[in-house]
Amino acid sequence: MLSDAFGRTVTDLRFSVTKRCNFGCAYCHDEGMGPIVRPRDPHDEEVSPAEIERIVRTAREFGIRSVKFTGGEPLVRSDLEEIVDRTVRHVPDVSLTTNGSMLADRAERLRDAGLKRVNVSVDSMRPEEFRSIRRGSLAPVLKGIREALRVGLKPVKLNMVVFRPTVDRLAEMIEYVADSDGLKLQLIQFMPELVDHREWMVDIDAIRSWLERHSESVIVREMHHRRIYRFRGAEVELVDPVENAEFCANCHRIRVTHRGELKGCLNRNDDLIPTRGLDDAELRDAFRTVVARRVPYYGAYRPAPRSSRTAGDPRTRPLAIVDR
Ligand code: 5AD
Ligand code: SF4
Repeated sequence: MLSDAFGRTVTDLRFSVTKRCNFGCAYCHDEGMGPIVRPRDPHDEEVSPAEIERIVRTAREFGIRSVKFTGGEPLVRSDLEEIVDRTVRHVPDVSLTTNGSMLADRAERLRDAGLKRVNVSVDSMRPEEFRSIRRGSLAPVLKGIREALRVGLKPVKLNMVVFRPTVDRLAEMIEYVADSDGLKLQLIQFMPELVDHREWMVDIDAIRSWLERHSESVIVREMHHRRIYRFRGAEVELVDPVENAEFCANCHRIRVTHRGELKGCLNRNDDLIPTRGLDDAELRDAFRTVVARRVPYYGAYRPAPRSSRTAGDPRTRPLAIVDR
């Protein structure tokens, strides 16, 4: 197991397999790797399934327990099933964050390859609104969610980015999740740092107290003291990393970019370590180095008193980013 100087052990890997995407979400932080590109754009630099397998195998040696694939949109890769298949040979807990638009046709094959769960980004149940935020269609995404549930990729977690354009849809999204078996909702605070548009931020503390007041019950997970709100049995979680030192203190994840570089923090690009051309011993050293250089973004890299999270106009608060 690898630990950084702040006592944070690394247990999860988030692997971006492409920076291509068929959507163009207004809020997209591009995993910190610069603007997404279109699905048919050149992509010679993308990691191959063999490269991915080697990195995952090494991660496993260091005790990493789960791998989450992301993009861009990971399903633009036609070899994602092969990637999942090669990954589960080393780390069985493999999940995917997807926009869902291409999921319906592939959910079953992905499950057969060994995929365990999916997160699907859905921010509004209104087709026109969805299109204006995402530059893509809602209907295929809903089909993808149904198919994922049907083939047993449960629970399907819906990611909703909470910002000005979606804040009034909270109750509607909760209704949808409560009405369908097997769905959970993650409300993700809009992270403006790599996107700008600070004026889109909403008061996350007001959302939290709305959830406290309207949910039927609250479960507190021992791990990280995370609060899960229950609505008619459905679980709703608020993920609020911005200015949250506690969030960073609990970060147990390292990342890999679509070019196969190791990356210690979503918010930083000054810590990338290329792995191409390294032999196995050098690759292990690269893992040790990326972990040794990790610094909690909030609380250490950018000191910010916890009190600044609740005081003042949310639009003028310092900004950050995290992940889901
Ligand atoms: N703020 C919050 N969440 C974001 N995501 C992308 N950009 C942002 C942002 N700026 C999340 C979406 C999507 C996942 C890939 O990343 O929820 O589900
Ligand atoms: Fe970015 Fe994901 Fe939206 Fe594509 S679907 S634009 S990668 S947030």
